[in-house]
Amino acid sequence: MSYQIISGSKMAKNIIENLKKEVKDFQSSSSIVLGLAVVIIGDNPASRVYVNHKKKACEEVGLTSFEYSLPKDVSEKELLKLIQDLNQDKRVHGILVQLPLPDHLDPEKILLEIDPSKDVDGFHPFNLGQMLRGYPHFLPCTPYGIVEMLKRSNIQTESQHVVVIGRSNIVGKPLGAMLLQKGANANATVTICHSRTKDMEKITQQADILVAAIGKPLFVKADMVKKGAVVIDVGINALQDAQAPKGYRLVGDVAFEEVAPRCSAITPVPGGVGPMTIAMLLTNTLKAGQYLMNQKGETS
Ligand SMILES: NC(=O)c1ccc[n+]([C@@H]2O[C@H](COP(=O)([O-])OP(=O)(O)OC[C@H]3O[C@@H](n4cnc5c(N)ncnc54)[C@H](OP(=O)(O)O)[C@@H]3O)[C@@H](O)[C@H]2O)c1
Repeated sequence: MSYQIISGSKMAKNIIENLKKEVKDFQSSSSIVLGLAVVIIGDNPASRVYVNHKKKACEEVGLTSFEYSLPKDVSEKELLKLIQDLNQDKRVHGILVQLPLPDHLDPEKILLEIDPSKDVDGFHPFNLGQMLRGYPHFLPCTPYGIVEMLKRSNIQTESQHVVVIGRSNIVGKPLGAMLLQKGANANATVTICHSRTKDMEKITQQADILVAAIGKPLFVKADMVKKGAVVIDVGINALQDAQAPKGYRLVGDVAFEEVAPRCSAITPVPGGVGPMTIAMLLTNTLKAGQYLMNQKGETS
């Protein structure tokens, strides 16, 4: 079966090209210089790579980024104080705390401290709650990127059975909630699977759209996928490979080579969901500035 490879890289490039102009117009008409604060704690190499990508993308679209790099033993008190300062900082319109955090820091407590109007990752309960109720303010970037990918690929979600493997607060749960909404690019019937799901293959085999957000390399095999399904691979895993220059290669949660021929469309790793996540982060940062300007307009 011939299949379409959904290139997140290409779509993200288009979004970024459009954002360049939108950011420029917004900044010149509002005199607001948009700023994104990126907080990174410790020396996790993957986090460093993600933060560098995000900073580079900011530069590309003309957003100012401020990096706050803290040692891995930073106290909760110090980190909370930094976030409180950033909440007040008028140069900063978006705040992003790179996850995962070192074990002694509770991500729930840290993310709660971020002003919801600067929560461009869309992880704050206020923003998650607004999304759940169908009145989104900031959408979480990875699910937002996935919905945008489906939309831009003309893949209908209406009346389709979407099966998401993974129930994390940053991918699986919010994606399920977004696709369940009443409205365009949603209206799906959603099933969410996780590590306690019984007979999962029987469920995944029913998916018109199957999303893998598990964090286990090459977990989804061909026999788990219905013929003609759309497969979205969120996973980013480093798989040891002695032949690869770095000693490892990046793979998704889907065994691409065997699954792709069963699909009508599939996302690659790398070059799929990852670049879209960054594009939506920049989109949210521009939105943060636009919301601020609207508020100013209302109060002046
Ligand atoms: N492309 C991007 O931009 C992007 C963004 C975010 C994350 N990611 C990647 O996406 C993957 C998932 O990230 P995450 O933060 O959502 O991970 P997570 O918080 O670790 O959640 C993983 C989910 O997978 C479920 N799971 C684990 N093993 C399973 C199994 N054998 N069968 C069924 N379900 C299983 C877990 O179930 P339980 O809840 O029962 O434990 C959990 O709900 C990771 O590879 C991550 O690097 C990529």
